[in-house]
Amino acid sequence: MAESWVNSAERIGVDLHLELPGPGGRRAALIRALREAVRGGRLAPGTRLPPYRSLAADLGVARNTVADAYAELIAEGWLTARQGSGTRVADRAVPLRPAERVPVKAPARARGTRHDLRQGTPDASAFPRAAWSAAYRRALQAAPNEAFGPGDPAGRRELREALTEYLARARGVRTDPDRIVICSGFAHALRLLFGQGAGQTAGQGSGGVLRGPLAVEAYGLDFHRGLLAAAGVRTVPLSLDEHGARVDGLGRERAVLLTPAHQFPTGGPLHPERRAAVIDWARARGTVVLEDDYDGEFRYDRRPVGALQGLDPERVMHIGSVSKSLSPALRLGWMVLPERYVGPVLAAKGEREGWASVPDQLALADFVASGSYDRHVRRMRQHYRRRRDRLVAMLAARAPHIEVTGIAAGLHAVLRLPSGTERSAVKAAAWQGVALDGLAAFRHPDTDMPAPDGLVVGYATPPEHAYGAALEALCGVLPPG
Ligand SMILES: Cc1ncc(COP(=O)(O)O)c(C=O)c1O
Repeated sequence: MAESWVNSAERIGVDLHLELPGPGGRRAALIRALREAVRGGRLAPGTRLPPYRSLAADLGVARNTVADAYAELIAEGWLTARQGSGTRVADRAVPLRPAERVPVKAPARARGTRHDLRQGTPDASAFPRAAWSAAYRRALQAAPNEAFGPGDPAGRRELREALTEYLARARGVRTDPDRIVICSGFAHALRLLFGQGAGQTAGQGSGGVLRGPLAVEAYGLDFHRGLLAAAGVRTVPLSLDEHGARVDGLGRERAVLLTPAHQFPTGGPLHPERRAAVIDWARARGTVVLEDDYDGEFRYDRRPVGALQGLDPERVMHIGSVSKSLSPALRLGWMVLPERYVGPVLAAKGEREGWASVPDQLALADFVASGSYDRHVRRMRQHYRRRRDRLVAMLAARAPHIEVTGIAAGLHAVLRLPSGTERSAVKAAAWQGVALDGLAAFRHPDTDMPAPDGLVVGYATPPEHAYGAALEALCGVLPPG
């Protein structure tokens, strides 16, 4: 049996955990354990080791055993001993070889990217650092001690109350705090709703609230389709036209996933008649509509489209996150659920909060309740509107043959291209270091609707100083008129 100990932090200023095998060979075992700790980087160069006596007492070995082990490691060059400063890890102790580290996949920015015009992220340089820090500080100071224990899987009540008020006011969502479950974003919501296969970590609840087949829009985020496929959920594409998803194509699917406020990625709102029709379908089928409200806050020159959920809170799951409004790095989102789904979603989440940091939830609650969220969203709306206007003006001047669509809302635009030119434009962009996607990247593989040529241009992503150059570069890769 392995025996382990943790030495007291007061004596040497660091906690050190070692494991020694059972009786016999203690000196050799201690040497091996210390050598491993140094080699693996757990004991950094310069770290002071415990005095013989305290280490011997902690380990239940003779003082001489420790003294001998230290002497051996000093002789080998792993440790050094100097009068008055005790025994320390030697400076030249070999660090972990790079090859032994767990390889981490580089984040999504493509190699060679000079101008990042991919959709999907807000302007990271505009994150409201000061206001968020102030909210965080206030939230931590006000938090009761129990907030630092295991979290409630429903999420902090403070946040659910703040969201209830905000979503009602800003998005027309009808709910109360007991029907909101906090999650880490839309992707997490999909995992909770469709189960383990969608990438859940073992031990984090059972998942599987809904089952496929699930109707989805013929153009959408490939990543989400991938999550669903991994969960074994078959998705059935609904064609799109200028009024959004053709919900008259709904049949015997078990649920439908839509982006009603701003079809992703093509850009229009779902027509009012279709909003009503999809609710009728859900009522008749006894099922639900999943509403992905991914950029509901960013409306420029058309009336804001309220949440579909407002039409029937018992037939729509409204799902949102701060990924577009604040940052996708926060991993905070919410599910506003019909009453009958609250229990199953909580059961899927598990007994404790295992996903969304409780202090971050409290900070967001303060951020929303104090009005900082509204202020930030208003400021960003202006910021993105100006960017959109620059994009539109630039294209009107330099590429008037290119139609720009989907621009009344959101953080991206779709540039319609002459038929047959999308692939070469995407290639030219990659060649010039301009990161963007063609419409084909979002197309459901099973749809038979016509495939328009287009580029999806995220105008939020570049930092302010780089935006002009990014637009210039974009103009350089468009097909000639
Ligand atoms: C269509 C769509 N839905 C939802 C999201 C938000 O995802 P999450 O909340 O998991 O960050 C995004 C973000 O890029 C999106 O593009």
